[in-house]
Amino acid sequence: MAKKTILDFQAMVEKEEKIVYLTAYDYLTAKMQEKAGVDMILVGDSLGMVSLGYDTTFPVTMDDMIRHCQAVRRGAPNVFIVGDMPYMSYQVSDEQAIANAGRFIKEAGADCVKLEGGGPSIINRIKAITEAGIVVMGHIGLTPQFMGQLGGYKAQGKTAQAAMSLIQQAKLIEEAGAASILVEGIPTAVGKAITEKANIPILGIGAGSYTHGQLLIYADMVGLYDNFTSKFVKKYANIGEKLTDAFRNYVQEVREGKFPVDAEHTYKMKNEDVAELTKMLSVKE
Ligand code: KIV
Repeated sequence: MAKKTILDFQAMVEKEEKIVYLTAYDYLTAKMQEKAGVDMILVGDSLGMVSLGYDTTFPVTMDDMIRHCQAVRRGAPNVFIVGDMPYMSYQVSDEQAIANAGRFIKEAGADCVKLEGGGPSIINRIKAITEAGIVVMGHIGLTPQFMGQLGGYKAQGKTAQAAMSLIQQAKLIEEAGAASILVEGIPTAVGKAITEKANIPILGIGAGSYTHGQLLIYADMVGLYDNFTSKFVKKYANIGEKLTDAFRNYVQEVREGKFPVDAEHTYKMKNEDVAELTKMLSVKE
């Protein structure tokens, strides 16, 4: 399957085909997702929690993101990859934002970068990165990098006024040149209104069924990350339990001397070589 471009995503919207979007952080997962037919992969800064064991996304660095994005690209050469710009990699200035967005394209083979927020300075960053020729995805609603100001991981746009503010932010992001917008943690009615007013693809995570596509964090939907689970997650598997069972069985079998079985899991040597080795070992030094 050929890698999709922003033109393919626009065409999918016109044909009312849903865009399927998942996060990935490593080679093996990306390989399975490409095989499964996902349209788009986000190398999210949720990497911080899912793969690096932090409590938040704040400590994630550009070097972390580049390393993992490279691995995902190797696993999924034919999938459109979005590199998530980590905290403080774009907030300082347009120049900083362009340089770091450029690293995702040059060093990691990403197709697009994603920035959180819809305030005036973020709108400027989106314009600047777009003018540098890089495809941008906006991200509004429950934006984890604004967690301090939002008072935690809380749904957004729940009053009419807050909803209008998100709808306006989406319009400004589109006008700034973004090729798509991710909307997170908002009521279905707000996801629907943003989608109906947009001329670019709107992807949703916890934003209801009306958006042009859906995103989930892969570790949530396969039951690997159990520190907390958001209301909008559907679990398609319980891989965490399966892996823990496999590790537990291994621990038990090694302790009990049941693994390895020499007839099955080890390399063979010719009988004459075994005999010669035995003779060599029996020679006293
Ligand atoms: O980092 C990430 O995976 C994200 C999602 C939470 C939308 O930005």
